[in-house]
Amino acid sequence: MSRLIVISNRVAVPKARGAAGAQGGLAGALQAALKRNKGLWFGWSGKEVENPSAEPDVQTSDGVTTATIDLKHQDIEEYYSGYANSTLWPLFHYRIDLTEYERETGIGYERVNDLFANTAAPLIEPDDLVWVHDYHFVPLGERLRRQGIKNRLGFFLHTPWPPTRLLVSLPYHERLVRSLLEYDVVGFQCDEWLESFLHYCRKELGADVNEDTGEIRLDDRKVLARSYPIGIDYAHFTGSGDSGEARQAEQRVISSTRRRIAMIGVDRLDYSKGLPEKMDGFARFLERNPGRNQDIVFIQIAPPSREGLESYQQIREELEQKTGQINGAHSRIDLVPIRYVNEGHSMAELYGIYRASKIGFVTPLRDGMNLVAKEYVAAQDPEDPGVLILSQFAGAAQQLDEAVMVNPHSPDDIARAIRKALDMPLDERKRRWEKLHASVRDDDIAKWTQNFVTDLENAG
Ligand code: G6P
Repeated sequence: MSRLIVISNRVAVPKARGAAGAQGGLAGALQAALKRNKGLWFGWSGKEVENPSAEPDVQTSDGVTTATIDLKHQDIEEYYSGYANSTLWPLFHYRIDLTEYERETGIGYERVNDLFANTAAPLIEPDDLVWVHDYHFVPLGERLRRQGIKNRLGFFLHTPWPPTRLLVSLPYHERLVRSLLEYDVVGFQCDEWLESFLHYCRKELGADVNEDTGEIRLDDRKVLARSYPIGIDYAHFTGSGDSGEARQAEQRVISSTRRRIAMIGVDRLDYSKGLPEKMDGFARFLERNPGRNQDIVFIQIAPPSREGLESYQQIREELEQKTGQINGAHSRIDLVPIRYVNEGHSMAELYGIYRASKIGFVTPLRDGMNLVAKEYVAAQDPEDPGVLILSQFAGAAQQLDEAVMVNPHSPDDIARAIRKALDMPLDERKRRWEKLHASVRDDDIAKWTQNFVTDLENAG
């Protein structure tokens, strides 16, 4: 078996690990994948230093070897905060209103991709499979090729891929997408993102695209593009439910909500997650159903994210205001409808919290996949499972079609879904959950890794 080299911006150190969904999918999922395929995980240390060393810091812990480099201030500003998170992230989530187009950050992004390629190249041996992840590193494959790397190179995008009409608003879009065609396999979370990508390659690059097989030919390049829906580490996650930590968290929710139903949301504090819209939908439910504030407590866990960026500071303020307004309007001396929690939780605690909550509330405006939805399903009691409310705009909606589907832009739709979930009889809950559960259990992280790695092995 070839050695697997994984390259991603974030490299999770085991101590910092929460559940995959809560920390944003990628790091938790890769940790699980790498434990199975012995290899090397290369990326940013997360640290800013004045004079970064050219040598990566290599460590082995918990069965995974990591190699990380530090970055200097300017690199973080232009590559991470700038082009990756102020240009590509909003654009890939269909938010051209928030997308900043600065040539300088684009240049910084390419420079840092060069830096990663130069540092990674000496670590790569001739038989290795190289698997690059996410929007931080679109041109990395091309940069590795320039370093003389002939290995099979794969790329997986954890976010959505935008429709062509949005993508062409990006200056130098062609240059960015062409660089993707230096990989041998390019993977997406679901068919919708894949179709947009194939459409772009055909319309904008004039590539020869086989829609059935996902084979793209351009000049002398042959690339396979496919969807590989990511899953959770089912065995590990459900295993964590056996711990005292999980049971305690479950009890804390149950005893503090008493006879009311807990509805749980867990999202990074990101504008793509539709948090204000969720609050509006919940407020509409309370307005339309007088007296039912007695039946439900909405617990929203939202760990802050990318706090240096203004768009993230704004969403945080907006959410604090909305929560205050809704609680002000609907609280009684013995009840508060929304518990808004900023602190993060461990995997076991989240398992317990999900299990104690009879409604899972996942309503992103756009999401590559969304692993919180899958973790919620995995944590349910088969004899008395909760109901998943899910945005139709999450990649997960294509697989989890037995969820109560909502349009997160419509407060009425959300309000109706909450009511439906609250009143759903046990037999319907069980019937829906069994199908959801089978999909979450069977299409897990091991299957995702295996599918991608097999295609990469056969490529070229
Ligand atoms: C999303 C991205 C990941 C990213 C994560 C957390 O899930 O797809 O690449 O690591 O968010 O964001 P951060 O900026 O903290 O790495």
